[in-house]
Amino acid sequence: MLTLLVLLVFSSVFAADPSAATEEVGIDEKALSYSGFQVWSITILSNGEREILRKITEQYNVEVWKEPKTDKAAATELLVAPQVQKELKVKLTQANISYVIKINDLQTTIDNGTAKHNTSSINTKAGHSMDWTSYHRLVDIYGYLSYLASTYPGRVELINIGTSYEKRPLYVVRIFNCSSSVVKPAIWIDGGIHAREWISPALATYIIRQLVEVPANEALLTNVDWYIMPVMNPDGYEYTHTSNRLWRKTRSVMSWTSCRGVDPNRNFGYKWGGLGTSTNPCSEVYKGTSAFTEPETLATSNFIKSKASSIKLYLTLHSYGQSALIPWGYDVVYPSDYSDMLTLAKAAVAKFSKYRYSVGNSAALYYPAAGGSDDWAKSIGIKYSYTFELSDTGAYGFLLPASNILPVCQDFFPALDVFAAKVATL
Ligand SMILES: *[C@@H]1O[C@H](CO)[C@@H](O)[C@H](O)[C@H]1NC(C)=O
Ligand SMILES: *[C@@H]1O[C@H](CO)[C@@H](O)[C@H](O)[C@H]1NC(C)=O
Ligand SMILES: *[C@@H]1O[C@H](CO)[C@@H](O)[C@H](O)[C@H]1NC(C)=O
Ligand SMILES: *[C@@H]1O[C@H](CO)[C@@H](O)[C@H](O)[C@H]1NC(C)=O
Ligand SMILES: [Zn+2]
Repeated sequence: MLTLLVLLVFSSVFAADPSAATEEVGIDEKALSYSGFQVWSITILSNGEREILRKITEQYNVEVWKEPKTDKAAATELLVAPQVQKELKVKLTQANISYVIKINDLQTTIDNGTAKHNTSSINTKAGHSMDWTSYHRLVDIYGYLSYLASTYPGRVELINIGTSYEKRPLYVVRIFNCSSSVVKPAIWIDGGIHAREWISPALATYIIRQLVEVPANEALLTNVDWYIMPVMNPDGYEYTHTSNRLWRKTRSVMSWTSCRGVDPNRNFGYKWGGLGTSTNPCSEVYKGTSAFTEPETLATSNFIKSKASSIKLYLTLHSYGQSALIPWGYDVVYPSDYSDMLTLAKAAVAKFSKYRYSVGNSAALYYPAAGGSDDWAKSIGIKYSYTFELSDTGAYGFLLPASNILPVCQDFFPALDVFAAKVATL
């Protein structure tokens, strides 16, 4: 999700005080349960109300979960800790701002989304433990990639492009017809840049499965090669499974602060450090001390650069919001070939039948955010570069129930026909 997320609890109270390091770790541990946390939805009616809301959220250290574009009458969503709910209610009532409680107890929703999930029980009949009816740990996802590479050597190459901060391997799957010697144009897809957006790796692995294991999709390999990286930020992803379901960033440690992690989608090296980024390491949109400080973004960018002559389309999967976003994201600025990019995105989105997506410039549709992977891909000459914010539009947000995985994936997959047909001509 591109949304401006600022965990002000950490930043304003502890960040400036290095001696508070152990205390803050304590807070971090306590924050791991979201029991009693609520998600409030507020529709702002005027700029005056927006300003009041901004002041209140700042004063009470409330995390803004989702922020609509300034001139749109969409809802703002707030993650409200139990200890401030009473006061916040009073303040909003005084300001004549109404709100709706969208999620009454966040931990209940989190538990509901994870309880049925079965970790790493190898299905001996299938030879792997992946399915698309539950969200999976990294061991299942990586196990599936290894399984595919050994089962379909003529079609799958498993490429280790580096290691994460916590020393997990970073894998890209190349899917191609290895008996064909022609150099083909390629499509890149990545998932899991942001740890808590679980639907993203789920869709990336679904796409891998469709391309590799479903004979009816063989035509998609005729003129195009595919590079798919299902989990770009494996450390963060595992942390959302073990410790904090709503973790977003990497897990890197900086010597000068106890706050961990960089927003990988603010860490790419184009217009790095611009609008919509933070210098505060406790912020959810912390950009890092320079571009590509994170081993995950560095390895990914180096690999993509090494294939830049063949990769013609860059697709990065996030959630949530149901939108197809087109560079530039660093500001409301349009590339000279924007209309080509828009036309293709609209044709792709037209393939969706269950979910409606909005399409547009990412800075205009949401707000500017510099250092994103899509801008960087565009900047190195990949003509078609998109960020897809997957389902939903906020009913569950990051906590999309596992029962939605298959519907989202099945709805999305046909859009790849459109992308592949275009890329085949380049
Ligand atoms: C509060 O909102 C109601 C309904 O929108 C409006 O009629 C009323 O004038 C508002 N009161 C204040 C003090 O803004
Ligand atoms: C629990 O998840 C199911 C779908 O898996 C959903 O229909 C239901 O509304 C969820 N309940 C809560 C309380 O979130
Ligand atoms: C989880 O795994 C156990 C043991 O392998 C199995 O009995 C159970 O049916 C599984 N549950 C689901 C929901 O897949
Ligand atoms: C793979 O490439 C070979 C050689 O060009 C070709 O004969 C074969 O039909 C291709 N397979 C598929 C599934 O496209
Ligand atoms: Zn995201």
